[in-house]
Formats: sequence, C-alpha cells, structure tokens
Amino acid sequence: MTEEVPPTALSEIYLRLLCHDDIGTVKQLCGDWFPIEYPDSWYQDITSNQKFFSLAATYRGTIVGMIVAEIKSRAKVHKEDGDILASGFPVDTQVAYILSLGVVKEFRKHGIGSLLLESLKDHISTTAQDHCKAIYLHVLTTNNTAIHFYENRDFKQHHYLPYYYSIRGVLKDGFTYVLYINGGHPPWTIFDYLQHIGSTLANLSPCTIPQRIYRQAQSILCSLLPWSGISAKSGIEYSRTM
Ligand SMILES: CC(C)(COP(=O)(O)OP(=O)(O)OC[C@H]1O[C@@H](n2cnc3c(N)ncnc32)[C@H](O)[C@@H]1OP(=O)(O)O)[C@@H](O)C(=O)NCCC(=O)NCCS
Repeated sequence: MTEEVPPTALSEIYLRLLCHDDIGTVKQLCGDWFPIEYPDSWYQDITSNQKFFSLAATYRGTIVGMIVAEIKSRAKVHKEDGDILASGFPVDTQVAYILSLGVVKEFRKHGIGSLLLESLKDHISTTAQDHCKAIYLHVLTTNNTAIHFYENRDFKQHHYLPYYYSIRGVLKDGFTYVLYINGGHPPWTIFDYLQHIGSTLANLSPCTIPQRIYRQAQSILCSLLPWSGISAKSGIEYSRTM
C-alpha cells in the first residue's frame, strides 16, 4: 500500500472475520510481518477452523491488520507455559493464546493494533465470560516494538524461552508475555506468601488486641465494684456519684 495514510484512518477501519478467500493475502502479510514461515495448513486452519478467533481490520476494503487467537482450556497449554496459571485453577479454566497480531507498516501507530487487541478482549468477555483467566503470547526477545506495545497494555513477561524460535535455521530466544484477567494469577512465589501473611496480620490489627483485653477487664471490674463509674468507652474516667 503506497497511498498516504490519513491521521483519521482509524475511523475508516472495519472489522470482520477472516475467511478462506483471504488465505493469499494473509500469507503475504504474515510474510511481511514475521520472520517465521508457517505451513499452508496453518493458513487453512486460521481462516476456516472455528476454534480460532481470526479478525481482520480492513481499510477501504483491504486488509491492513489482523489478530488470530485461540481460547482453550489450560490443560492444552504447551509444557513450556504450563505454569501460566496457579495450580489451584481447575484444568478446564480457559486461557487465550494470541498466535498472531500484525498491522501493515504504513498503518501502524494509528490505534489499529490496540483496536484488534480490545476486540479480542470483547470476544473473550462475550464467549468465555469470566472463565478465561489469562491472555498470553510469544514474542522474539529482539522485537522491541511488540514488547513495548504489550508492556504498555499491562502484559507481563512470564518466561524467557532460550532458542524458542527457529528462523531460517538459526535458533532465536523468545519471551512469553501474559495479561491476567478475571482474577487469574500465576503460581505464588515466596514473596507473594510473605506479602499475604503481612497483609493478613495488618488486617488483624494486633495493636488493638491489648486495648480489647483492657476494656474487657474494665467492664468486669465495673460489675464487681458498682460504686465505681469506670467508663469502658473512653479509658479511665472516674465519676463518683454519691
Ligand atoms: C505490534 C503492532 C501490532 C502494533 O500495532 P499498531 O497498530 O502500531 O498499534 P497501535 O497503533 O494501537 O499502538 C502503537 C503505538 O502507537 C500509538 N498511537 C496510536 N494511535 C496514534 C496516533 N494517532 N498518533 C500517534 N501515536 C499513536 C499508541 O499509543 C501506541 O504507543 P504506546 O504503546 O506507547 O501506547 C505492530 O507494530 C506490528 O504489526 N508489528 C509487526 C508484527 C509484530 O511484531 N507483531 C507482534 C508479534 S507478537
């Protein structure tokens, strides 16, 4: 696409699901965006298989961006990311995996990537409701633009994956990034346990315990010595009435 992209391009963006006829375009776009080669079956799958949420952003009828994600049970998460959720979550808890997110170069920094990500979140909230606890993805450690994009949208680095990608025969490192939603969280670390114990103790307000004991002693004394006007309300306050 060579024409100048107007600053108002976002207002002309339409979203629609990918279909079989898009395979050629999607192949060409992924070839531009990603250094990884996908097999033909992958393109067939993402454009036809209902298990994928494959959304295209179009501008004047041409695809200028897309997001592909799969919502699946945590039991189907690959081994390297098996600890995305704490073990307390049931095996049928859902997670969403972003397989692909890309925007045509000339259309970047116009809000299209954010729109696609928000559309995925909307889709999750309508289909999986609050059963989906995390959105995750893999990214090359050298892809600073994407890392910045995800970190600015509250995704947190979860794993460093050495030699995760094979790019034209060369092994490259990756990261797993995760955004926790609907109360999802990773396994607790020792720091989380310490923090939890700390906040539980703070809620108990140990400083108020001696005060409570003192007040109880006051009221017992009061009932034993009816002449003493000890107020249990505001500390020691003798008000003898004769
Ligand atoms: C990562 C990627 C999808 C982001 O897409 P994008 O359309 O540029 O995303 P957005 O426009 O929504 O946001 C990008 C930045 O532009 C900014 N922006 C959005 N609209 C803007 C505007 N009108 N003017 C100026 N800046 C704008 C956003 O605030 C954002 O910056 P921030 O992250 O500091 O907040 C895109 O860079 C891309 O396709 N990269 C190549 C493929 C890739 O690496 N994909 C990720 C693989 S995991």
